[in-house]
Amino acid sequence: MVSGRNEETSERIRLGMVGGGNDAFIGGVHRIAARLDDKFELVAGALSSTPEKSRESGKALGLTRVYDDFKQMAMREARLKSGIEAVSIVTPNHVHYAAAREFLKRGIHVICDKPLTSTLGDAKKLVKAAESSDALFILTHNYTGYPMVRQARDMIADGAIGKIRVVQVEYPQDWLVEHQDFKQAEWRTDPERSGAGGSTGDIGTHAYNIACFVTQLEAESLAADLQAFVPGRKVDDNAHVLLRFKGGARGMLWSSQVAPGNENALRLRVYGEKGGLEWAQEDPNHLWFTPYGEPKRLITRNGSGAGEAANRLSRVPPGHPEGYLEGFANIYGEAAEAIYAHRKGIKPDASVVFPTVQDGLNGVKFVAACVQSSARNSAWVKLE
Ligand SMILES: NC(=O)c1ccc[n+]([C@@H]2O[C@H](COP(=O)([O-])OP(=O)(O)OC[C@H]3O[C@@H](n4cnc5c(N)ncnc54)[C@H](O)[C@@H]3O)[C@@H](O)[C@H]2O)c1
Repeated sequence: MVSGRNEETSERIRLGMVGGGNDAFIGGVHRIAARLDDKFELVAGALSSTPEKSRESGKALGLTRVYDDFKQMAMREARLKSGIEAVSIVTPNHVHYAAAREFLKRGIHVICDKPLTSTLGDAKKLVKAAESSDALFILTHNYTGYPMVRQARDMIADGAIGKIRVVQVEYPQDWLVEHQDFKQAEWRTDPERSGAGGSTGDIGTHAYNIACFVTQLEAESLAADLQAFVPGRKVDDNAHVLLRFKGGARGMLWSSQVAPGNENALRLRVYGEKGGLEWAQEDPNHLWFTPYGEPKRLITRNGSGAGEAANRLSRVPPGHPEGYLEGFANIYGEAAEAIYAHRKGIKPDASVVFPTVQDGLNGVKFVAACVQSSARNSAWVKLE
């Protein structure tokens, strides 16, 4: 398992980036997240869709190894003695598969943003590519890195709310209430680049992932009602989805990009036979726990009531807010732990639970099933 490169287990991980050029959104967030705990060093990039823009963007970041495209980068970096050990893929969705495959086949670890791919066929091929590679695959469903999300997951696993009956998850936004032509909106509303789902792919996959991550339930079927409210829009901008989980629990998922007043209002509520839990992304340091028949209890990040799973991912004392960037960095921190373990040829600690390529496939299956169900007048569709 040891790659021959970088055998010092604590040496910084040499990182490359595909996408994340000038004016891109999430590439900058990944760069901050990778640096926050000083475990990665960005050394190479194929940062944009054209060689010129890639070079310009590389220069702005002070990079010396800047490539025309991701294929050239994968080939050349794999030949270098101190080439990259991991790559972050932060392009629009339709590029994820082709880019990830190039690095996986050369044994370079992949940290890829969601949704895994723009089509179900590509997602299945990517799972095979990851399985036949020695490299790791980390999917940045970043909300799973928030300490209070880990706290909720741990409490549910410990039986704090009993057998789960009801899961309510929602992710409403309002930035696509009307037609927008800036680039993040433009590719997200083009099914060729985004995939068949609009809000379902962009934020519904986050909601679905966090619901499954926290409850550790597996969905077996869904019924979806998708709408494109904005005239001319080719993908959904609002979705209501009913979920049936293995074991009998029932769920409802709402994703919307046309809900005025909502920015990134991801919210999860889980109700069991003995109690309930509530968490909201815009108040991420707090978790509400209600044991049935007792008053609600507020558990605070790094404060009273928070356990080990949450505390190991907290950096500052309670009351000083941590949020999006730190949650993202926690996924990078766990990626680093897994890469260090890989260097030694061992498995990472069991506390490392970042989303994987399989979770990515589940997300793309969720989108495909939503589109299929909605096209059949919201008929129930099995999630294989
Ligand atoms: N986890 C999160 O919270 C989160 C948030 C936003 C976006 N995302 C995901 O991140 C990805 C990027 O989204 P964004 O909003 O940053 O998009 P963006 O349009 O802002 O940036 C995309 C970047 O990729 C580059 N690019 C396009 N094709 C390329 C290619 N073939 N090779 C190299 N670079 C290429 C573009 O030039 C641009 O620099 C998407 O998959 C999106 O779903 C995740």
